[in-house]
Amino acid sequence: MEVESVFVTGANRGIGLEFVKQIVKLPKPPLFVFATYRDESTTQALKEIRDASKESQVVLIKMDITKKDEIESARKVVESKLGDNGLNLLINNAGALKGQGFLNITEENMVSHFTTNAVGPVLVLKEMLHLLEKAASRKTSRMDVSRAAVLNISSMGGSIGELTDESPKKWLEVFGYRTSKTALNMAMRVIAFTVKDQGILIVNMCPGWVKTDMGSQEAQLTTEESISAMLKTLSQLNESHHGTFLDRNGKTILF
Ligand SMILES: NC(=O)c1ccc[n+]([C@@H]2O[C@H](COP(=O)([O-])OP(=O)(O)OC[C@H]3O[C@@H](n4cnc5c(N)ncnc54)[C@H](OP(=O)(O)O)[C@@H]3O)[C@@H](O)[C@H]2O)c1
Repeated sequence: MEVESVFVTGANRGIGLEFVKQIVKLPKPPLFVFATYRDESTTQALKEIRDASKESQVVLIKMDITKKDEIESARKVVESKLGDNGLNLLINNAGALKGQGFLNITEENMVSHFTTNAVGPVLVLKEMLHLLEKAASRKTSRMDVSRAAVLNISSMGGSIGELTDESPKKWLEVFGYRTSKTALNMAMRVIAFTVKDQGILIVNMCPGWVKTDMGSQEAQLTTEESISAMLKTLSQLNESHHGTFLDRNGKTILF
């Protein structure tokens, strides 16, 4: 995979941190990696990657994806570094999960999931769209990640088609999370068709069940396994994948 610039949200831990770790070690690493966090005290691992990175300039940016002013400030930082080259790859990774089933569901739980998992990624993409368009306009090739792309880290939990009466009952206990990821999937599909002619590839991807604070240590995959599979898949995507929902290996997931 060859990209000049990457922007990763929620990069201070878990899946986002591993994306940054692996991206700076690509055979041809990007010139710029923008890595966002919310709390300075959680950035030690990111700072170590930044300080050790020889080829990529790793830029740490404070950004809560629910705060419009912070998203706007982040875009200005990116713009000041990239200028007319634009941004090649946005990884909308930041997300939150607070378990609660329908019988106990509160308005607060649902709204906070939707705000973080669906509205946040949409607003980040809206703010970065112009920079992605700039990158896309520099090439007339087919759609692919080296031109301009948005990778949304979604979840199989957001698939309506995959949920049946046979599904484990514990899957029902994350009501706000699941419904917010379904909303994310639809939002990104609508955006994909809205900006179809701009040359920006937009995909939703499930990382699998991954050992992170969110996934727990009982999960099936290490972050190394999940992210290396996603990066390999990402490098193989083209316009036929625009607006789709894929697993980490590139297999289509039912919306
Ligand atoms: N782990 C899995 O098994 C799994 C499976 C399917 C999908 N996913 C998805 O993968 C993504 C990453 O999950 P993870 O497993 O790495 O979770 P995690 O370990 O809990 O990390 C979540 C990341 O998102 C950030 N974040 C949360 N709310 C935010 C906000 N409002 N603004 C900015 N950043 C925010 C967190 O920042 P703070 O440190 O500041 O809280 C943290 O960096 C999520 O979208 C999740 O839904 C994970």
